Amino acid sequence: MTPPDAVSPPPEQAADKPWGGRFETPTDVFVEAFTASVQFDRRLYAQDIQGSIAHATMLAATGVLQQSERDQIVAGLEAIRVDIEAGNFSWSVALEDVHMNIESALTARLGEVGKKLHTARSRNDQVATDIRLYLRAQIDFLTRSLERLLGALVDLAEREADTILPGFTHLQAAQPISFGHHLLAWFEMLLRDRERLADCRKRVDSLPLGAGALAGTTFPIDRELTAQLLGFTRICENSLDAVADRDFAIEFCACAALMMVHFSRMAEEMVLWSSQQFGFIELADAFCTGSSMMPQKKNPDVPELVRGKSGRVVGHLMALITLMKSQPLAYNKDNQEDKEPLFDTVDTLAGCLRAFGDLVPTISVRRERMREATRAGFTTATDFADYLVRLGVPFRDAHAVVGAAVRQAIARGIELGDLSLEELQALEPRINAEVYAALDLDTALAARDHRGGTAPGRVRAACAAARIRLQTVGC
Ligand code: ARG
Repeated sequence: MTPPDAVSPPPEQAADKPWGGRFETPTDVFVEAFTASVQFDRRLYAQDIQGSIAHATMLAATGVLQQSERDQIVAGLEAIRVDIEAGNFSWSVALEDVHMNIESALTARLGEVGKKLHTARSRNDQVATDIRLYLRAQIDFLTRSLERLLGALVDLAEREADTILPGFTHLQAAQPISFGHHLLAWFEMLLRDRERLADCRKRVDSLPLGAGALAGTTFPIDRELTAQLLGFTRICENSLDAVADRDFAIEFCACAALMMVHFSRMAEEMVLWSSQQFGFIELADAFCTGSSMMPQKKNPDVPELVRGKSGRVVGHLMALITLMKSQPLAYNKDNQEDKEPLFDTVDTLAGCLRAFGDLVPTISVRRERMREATRAGFTTATDFADYLVRLGVPFRDAHAVVGAAVRQAIARGIELGDLSLEELQALEPRINAEVYAALDLDTALAARDHRGGTAPGRVRAACAAARIRLQTVGC
């Protein structure tokens, strides 16, 4: 007996194949394996059956099939689905792909009636339909997973609205910011990713069936009905385009690549922040691993892997877009190569979303370390300059005065606030004691009090708005 899910050896004759009639000699054994896709496209079995049921139902509605034939076909397909899910279906490389495996199994069950299913259909419009059904469902799943992560980011941001850390430019301490504000920057990046996915979904959600191999069909078909049965909002309007283009998959991979680039930036920050040198956060033990040699190590493997996995997703985008380039219309076998990159993109993205969605709520924040790093980094130098501007000093001159003060502080190993009023007045006589308030971290943070700013009150308001935006589709 063939073990479940194994792929059986090829039969002797090409005549055993659904398209074998025109052939005199069997397919070369290597070529058979080389051209087969069942090893990976059997993953589309549920969509293939769903599409076939809709197709048969439509053919019965237009009188191409009898209702009783349609019913037998549907029952047969349902039974095949049960077999596949129970691991009782033997997949055959000789039958090339998921479509011919299922169709052959149907004919083996039903005889003559099974052979009628492929009326007014080609594998070309069939496979395009299967991929669109698959991708549409995956986009919905990925979107829900992304929304879970977005929610976790807002929760953490709200909790850390008052937490101060150095904001960086060039990875040099720049200005004090709220940690919540930083997390909301991640939120914005990922919310745009959700928007991009939703937009991509519109173009995935279109029915190819009815296009046939390329030119449509001579049978009376009702594409609106098939679309309705499969929940497609649109119908591919040109039969050649319906079977030839995979731009919707490329678009999805572009969305995924961009999302992974965002994840890789988040991951990089988590890796840096959890290092001894930064010490800003600690990742839960459950998300880290140790070293087989160095007993002290706790490595941030999860963010590192997410960062690393961005490479393969970007690679899949390149593979798909290059696959499409220069293909003459309409369908070409090249398109069989679309599946593995697409599947791996979906799987990788799903894994990374799950990992981050689980990890983010467990991040513990070392608020004192963050504050200390902000204090030590002259991060309120701009606030000092702004204070001088309010005293009437032109900004460029104020910049030079503060630059000189920073130089003195560095030379003496102290902070700006440790310079005496006399020392500061020697640099600019208009300086008064209020300068010390301007140098205070909390004052500096609270002063950036405008929409999009880092003042803790604004961060809390942004969190509240973020929750509403998260509930609002397309926002
Ligand atoms: N396995 C094929 C694919 O993935 C199905 C369509 C094949 N069509 C054909 N005429 N050879 O694209």
